[in-house]
Parts: sequence; structure tokens; C-alpha cells
Amino acid sequence: MIGKLNHVAIIVPDLEKATALYRDTLGAKVLPPHALPEHGVTAVFVELGNTRVELLEPLGAESPVRGFLSRNPDGGMHHVCYEVADIKAARDRLRASGARVLGDGEPRIGAHGKPVLFLHPKDFCGTLIELEEV
Ligand code: CO
Repeated sequence: MIGKLNHVAIIVPDLEKATALYRDTLGAKVLPPHALPEHGVTAVFVELGNTRVELLEPLGAESPVRGFLSRNPDGGMHHVCYEVADIKAARDRLRASGARVLGDGEPRIGAHGKPVLFLHPKDFCGTLIELEEV
């Protein structure tokens, strides 16, 4: 059911420093930062060819990732995103197997303008999973 790894999201306390680390130290191709106020983050995409890393810095006082950063002041891996062909079919199948879909279970438009859902980390090896319909 799941397809490619679309991205790995890493929350960072300082986007400029994190960008320099990926661009200069790791030698990766890094795109310019863009603000996503509706998601409460500023994002920098690191293009790896087969997938991408998203460096996310909280944007605004109400950012949903501020809590994560207060528990992990150095930053850390926040979620992995897998691609699915039909997100509602994926949701129904997961629910039928007992997995918890976060929120009201209705797909929302994610950072790439496509429908996404998140799955409870306790049901998936302690890892928050995002599903994105592509
Ligand atoms: Co994501």
C-alpha cells in the first residue's frame, strides 16, 4: 500500500544553521526557505534525488512543533512521509486493522498542496507517519 519515501521531516531550532550544515558540511542540494504559515513552520527542502529531507523551524507562537522543540532543544526527527495512491482507501484499511489516524481522520492539504494524514506513533514503532496522496 505505501509507496516511496516522500520525505523525512527534521525539526530544527535554527533553520539558517541547519541549512548551512546540510549544504556546506554534508554537501547537499538545498532549496531556498519558504514560510508555510498555515502549518506553523518555515521549511527548507534538501533534495537527495531519491527522496528529500525537510528542515522545519517553528513559525509563529502557535506553531504545532514548538512542543517538540521544547522536548528536543537540539531538534530531531519528527516524522517520515510515505506516498500512497489513494489516501482515503489507505485510511480505511489502516483503521480496519486497528491503527489510529490522528485528528478527525479527514485528509488535510499538506505542505506540498496534496492530501495528507498522520498515524499515531504508538502504533508504528514510535515513529510519527505522514501519508501523502500522490
Ligand atoms: Co511532512
